[in-house]
Amino acid sequence: MSYQHILVLTGAGISAESGIPVFRAEDGLWEQHRVEDVATPEGFARNPQLVHDFYNNMRRSVKTKEPNPAHLALTKLQAGLEARGGTVTIVTQNIDDLHDKAHSHDIIHMHGALNSILCQHCGQSYEWHEDCDGTTECKFCHHQAMRPDIVWFGEIPYHMDAIERAIERCDLFMAIGTSGVVYPAAGFVSYCSRQGKPCLEFNLAPSANSGVFTQSFLGKAGTTLPAFVAYFLEHGTIPEPAAL
Ligand code: APR
Repeated sequence: MSYQHILVLTGAGISAESGIPVFRAEDGLWEQHRVEDVATPEGFARNPQLVHDFYNNMRRSVKTKEPNPAHLALTKLQAGLEARGGTVTIVTQNIDDLHDKAHSHDIIHMHGALNSILCQHCGQSYEWHEDCDGTTECKFCHHQAMRPDIVWFGEIPYHMDAIERAIERCDLFMAIGTSGVVYPAAGFVSYCSRQGKPCLEFNLAPSANSGVFTQSFLGKAGTTLPAFVAYFLEHGTIPEPAAL
């Protein structure tokens, strides 16, 4: 196996086949909600209840969703590579927990998680599975100052040090179901590409930075990714998209 350390970046597209809407599409979330209202610190300051309602609804809905064949293929890839002494790090922009439900590990939630809340008073965050609002008390400092533990526009993504280490170490980069317009995640491919690492894209259609990728596997991730993983684990090489 010539590839030992894979970095996988996932976006909303990997969860679409599980019934979770993507952000940028005709029927996407950002068509129905104004980003500035529900995904910025300023929006939360203006109308916290609107923002709590938005994420409470999403948390309730995601609770009922299950991983699809694309999430499960990544778990298989991880197990297969680890059995040969390699690693697969999954950096996700998604706030759902479908990689966790698929029993993957080494998952980095760079944009936060629906199942976590953050205290604006003491800065602690912790696991949370229920509705949250302005009366929810912090379990540490007891202030009623909780917010969704989501990285909003204008905020710095989580775990950037760990992500940088994973980018340095990887010898193969895969981006799955992401539109390639939100930075810093959209810039990972350029960084890997400059270092001569193969960069693979899995998307319904070419993403905004498709030209930087070495190869594009177009189609539903729930179809292309299981086929890719089966080939990759059997042969140890990257298939031509037409071979899948
Ligand atoms: N298989 C593969 N790709 C798919 C599928 C599918 N079944 N369905 C949709 N896609 C692709 C779309 O073509 C699109 O390129 O997934 C991508 C989804 O793009 P976005 O909705 O922009 O989601 P994402 O890239 O994850 O957004 C990045 O923006 O709004 C913020 O913080 C939010 O994490 C999010 C970030």
